Amino acid sequence: MHSDALHGLKSALLCPLVGKKKTVGLVVLADKFSGDEFYSYDVKLLRIISKHAAMAIENALLYEEIEDLLLGTIKSFVKALETTTDWTAGHTERVTIYAEGIANEMGLDEKQIARLRICSLLHDIGKIAVPREILNKKGRLEHDEWIEIRKHPLVGVAILSGLKPFSDILDGIKYHHEYWDGTKGLFGLTGENIPLMARILAVADAFDAMTSDRPYRSRKSREETLKEITEFSGKQFDPVVVHAFQRWLNLQNQVS
Ligand SMILES: [Fe+2]
Repeated sequence: MHSDALHGLKSALLCPLVGKKKTVGLVVLADKFSGDEFYSYDVKLLRIISKHAAMAIENALLYEEIEDLLLGTIKSFVKALETTTDWTAGHTERVTIYAEGIANEMGLDEKQIARLRICSLLHDIGKIAVPREILNKKGRLEHDEWIEIRKHPLVGVAILSGLKPFSDILDGIKYHHEYWDGTKGLFGLTGENIPLMARILAVADAFDAMTSDRPYRSRKSREETLKEITEFSGKQFDPVVVHAFQRWLNLQNQVS
């Protein structure tokens, strides 16, 4: 602490915030309202408060570290999955960027966006159980091959269901292929009964899938894709989400 910070004070009481592993801060009390000097009672009280505050701050920092570690592990896990197919490289990362853009446009708070980010990173983790020859197939998929692919949301949920930190994103994974009008989804949910995370993912996922080359077709332009997604607004996609995505893409186009 710079000595200038204490300049002009009549009396001050300083107490370091000492955690179990390191010092995490310093509490400074200065000039009592009453004008009295600090007594031993104040020192005792400050010591107790500082001890609790140090523990709380240290725990929060540790929690943050654990979360970062968890997120890093997830990213490595997803990357490993993506290297096993010809066409998924970068898909998860791009879907996460689009989903975050939509969420920002929709005014979701930081906590919701953080959960959505993890849900986006993990949304296709169930594809780990889909045979590689199906995922990498060049020609059209047969009916039974589609059945295999359509299992991936539930497989994803099964993989993650034992992990408590992911319990609130499981529905986002399970329902990310639902249709807003309920016509072609895997579970027949409609409208706002589909979790918001899943509705956002549906648009972000479709946009990236259509603007990427696949073994069985070439990619479409961003403009063409957005036009198609807009056409399916209110059918396959939540109109509010589509609108937010349009606004976000416009912003990106203005910046670039
Ligand atoms: Fe998917």
